[in-house]
Amino acid sequence: MKNTSQIEKAAQLLRAGGLVAFPTETVYGLGADAANEEAIRKIFLAKERPFDHPLIVHVADLNQINQWAQPLSPKALKLAQAFWPGPLTLILKKQPSVLDIVTGGQETIGIRIPRHPIAQALLHTFGSGIAAPSANKFTHVSPTTAEAVFEELGTTIDLILDGGACEVGLESTIVDMSEDSPVILRPGMITKEAISSVLNMPVLSSSPEKTIIKTPGMHHLHYAPHTPTSLIASKDIPLLLQTIQAEELPIAMLTHDQTLLLSSGIHWIKMPKEAEAYAHDLYQTLRSVDHEQVKHIFIEEVPEDMEWEAIRDRLFKASRQR
Ligand code: TXA
Ligand code: MG
Repeated sequence: MKNTSQIEKAAQLLRAGGLVAFPTETVYGLGADAANEEAIRKIFLAKERPFDHPLIVHVADLNQINQWAQPLSPKALKLAQAFWPGPLTLILKKQPSVLDIVTGGQETIGIRIPRHPIAQALLHTFGSGIAAPSANKFTHVSPTTAEAVFEELGTTIDLILDGGACEVGLESTIVDMSEDSPVILRPGMITKEAISSVLNMPVLSSSPEKTIIKTPGMHHLHYAPHTPTSLIASKDIPLLLQTIQAEELPIAMLTHDQTLLLSSGIHWIKMPKEAEAYAHDLYQTLRSVDHEQVKHIFIEEVPEDMEWEAIRDRLFKASRQR
């Protein structure tokens, strides 16, 4: 836990228009005062992110939401009560005063109450909304440690609060509650099932076309390692091992099972069998494999179950061609 002087220093930097990276239970965020246009501009510059991609505003508790969003509908309130503080972002109708640079000029705003104790302490001390995307360069893998934030953004930011490894490891579930029917815009470890069971109604996931309009951050290559990355079905691994050529090595192979072939050119990485543990490890594993100068990363496909949906989504995105 950070001592109060570091939290106080971070809050002061935010008040002065600075950039502070901080841990949440999902991934590290790159924070700025959500009411300070100049400060928010720095987020986009540090990330090299296009200006039309809206940011999530983080607040300490429900009392702070009214400054940013219209009052929650009964359905939105149900989700808030069930999952906040936690790895959930709600898209709500915004208050007229919210800066266009935060919302990408849309009429809606993404709001999240994170539960990480350092994020909570920072938000309470700062006392207002903190706009924060994931603390990585645009399209890169999100950082789940303070070291990863430094690797991504280095000294372009004023302070990194170190909270160790993030508990969840994948970005929050985003649910659009701005219209009558709730729609999941980005899957996360709070599953669609969990959301429909709280709302007691079926919940749709956004089609890719709709996602492009509502969530500009979704349509480009995202969450991608630098090394070319492919998904591979379990049954295809033996054939790959038989046919791979010496000049295609070394490769990394992320699997659930044991090593099938011992070879100095193949770096086997055994991934967890439980979805939660897999999610926790995924980005950190991709980041460390990226440092190894392998020519290709192969990732064994994961189960089809609902609890793996967010992981499948990120693996799919990581494995699209650059
Ligand atoms: O777990 C998370 O959500 C992390 C932590 C730091 O909170 N944040 C995060 O932020 O992943 P970012 O900016 O990397 O991704 C947020 C996504 C973007 O794809 C953005 O387009 C979408 O949320 N978004 C934000 N505001 C929106 C809005 N008003 N309507 C639709 N999509 C929105
Ligand atoms: Mg991001």
